[in-house]
Amino acid sequence: MKKLLAPLLALCLLAGCAPAHHPPEESAAIIHTVIGVSQVGAESGFRVTNTESIRSVFTEEAGYRLLFEDARQKQENQIAAIRKFIQQQVDYILLMPLCVTGWDSVLQEAKAAGIPVILVDRVIETEDDSLYTAHVGSDFRWEGEQAVAWLEETFREAPGPVNILHIRGTLDTSAQLGRSNALEEAVAQHESWSFLAQLDGDFTQAKTYEVTTQWLDNQPQRPDIHAVYCENDNTALGAIQALEERGYLCGPEGIRVISFDATRQGLDYCLEGKISLEVECDPLVGPQVEKIIQILERGDVPDKHYYTRERLFTPEDLTREFIDQRPY
Ligand code: AHR
Repeated sequence: MKKLLAPLLALCLLAGCAPAHHPPEESAAIIHTVIGVSQVGAESGFRVTNTESIRSVFTEEAGYRLLFEDARQKQENQIAAIRKFIQQQVDYILLMPLCVTGWDSVLQEAKAAGIPVILVDRVIETEDDSLYTAHVGSDFRWEGEQAVAWLEETFREAPGPVNILHIRGTLDTSAQLGRSNALEEAVAQHESWSFLAQLDGDFTQAKTYEVTTQWLDNQPQRPDIHAVYCENDNTALGAIQALEERGYLCGPEGIRVISFDATRQGLDYCLEGKISLEVECDPLVGPQVEKIIQILERGDVPDKHYYTRERLFTPEDLTREFIDQRPY
């Protein structure tokens, strides 16, 4: 956009444009920065809040024009959006990458056009780190390790086997890989731990409900489930619904459900005891993205990664007041 400002001004002078005389409160905001955003979709409570966080910071009043593209869970839509942003000569591209691989060519095109790309929320795998300028989001591996440590503590004294039902998020996303890898390594290390099944919940409640009911209904005998490791709140809600409908109890006296995100709805379930552990995944990264853009505008070099600080919640840590004052 800045690249377009000078020619526009010149055109305006040539055409003899007179300055508009609006009263101050009516005058249009001056747009100084154009930002293209390629969002994964709206599959979860986290995602919706993440979009709101970006939109609330990059407003026209603050001098930003946001070009927003919802990829509806398809990488090809994200690649098409990035190409469109390059044609539109945006100043920055924010990319919430669906999956970890397959970005090199399109990011090479953005780099050749001189447009910095900031990864938001998830990361990508590439041999050329210069293809993106910075990343802000969660450390999913750390989150998975926290959940595993809690499982170890909770089942330390367990007399028998620990049977785990694993509901994975969208495959090949850095969120799924970080959380799944931590659990898979722990299961391999603990002789008494085993997977009853690993199902694909795609980070949505509907898909998780579907695959969990299907799996439960296809078992020759009622499975003895000790823990369900759900890779976000939407999958936890879908799994709990399926389990309760088939007479299982989720809570300290029954199945221990682990979830990630800590949205208000997830924390409500946690306060009730149906979710035993919530590992926070913070979607409110808009302000940090703006700080990175300000650093770049000053001509300075930002850090490569900015990880959000996240917490763990168990029912004992929560109160109604605490949940109600959470912004998401
Ligand atoms: O990338 C973050 C994950 O993606 C969140 O845990 C999940 O809810 C989302 O859709």
